[in-house]
Amino acid sequence: MKTYLAIGIAAMFAASAGLAGAAEVHSLRGDLELNAPAKEFHKKKQMIVNGKVKRNWKLQPPVIPHKIGKERISLDENTCFRCHSPDTYKSEKAPMISKTHFKNPDKPAEKELIKRRYYCFQCHVPQVEAKPLVENTFKPGD
Ligand code: HEC
Ligand code: HEC
Repeated sequence: MKTYLAIGIAAMFAASAGLAGAAEVHSLRGDLELNAPAKEFHKKKQMIVNGKVKRNWKLQPPVIPHKIGKERISLDENTCFRCHSPDTYKSEKAPMISKTHFKNPDKPAEKELIKRRYYCFQCHVPQVEAKPLVENTFKPGD
């Protein structure tokens, strides 16, 4: 019985030490209840750039420099193709979807966009004017 009690007390101490550790972590949205609305909400402005946004490293998926509010990517349509497909990019004066997106390592003869590149937003996203949420020392590569 005594040993059980000792283990119980030790477990309680361990648990409270864990809680004390957790209390030092502050949420970026302030110390609010999990389901409470944020105190202030700043809608961020999208960065619209004429031309390309400089990449931070060579093989970074370039960020989207234009508005995308009306674009749709679903099973039935992908409106990015309106301007970026091999058939349309010239007349739309847009960069063509990267050639790498058509190279299927499993089926080298295939010329179609590979399925895993269909959902453009998985890798290409617009940018907003926002300060980094936490200080960091990141520097772009060459
Ligand atoms: C109405 C035509 C049009 C549509 C639709 C469009 N884009 Fe673009 N996009 C452009 C043009 C033009 C540029 C080049 C911007 C410039 O040179 O000013 C561009 C640039 C980009 C770039 C930057 C490329 C680089 O090398 O920096 C990305 C990424 C991109 N678009 C992704 C998308 C995605 C994803 C969609 C669909 C959600 C989309 N675009 C829909 C016309 C379009
Ligand atoms: C799995 C990630 C991924 C997906 C999904 C993806 N891309 Fe990319 N994209 C990249 C990367 C990485 C690069 C830069 C390296 C390269 O060219 O392969 C790139 C480059 C590009 C470029 C620049 C080409 C150039 O010559 O500068 C355009 C335009 C582009 N993608 C459009 C699209 C469009 C439109 C879609 C959706 C149909 C799409 N991408 C889907 C990762 C992705």
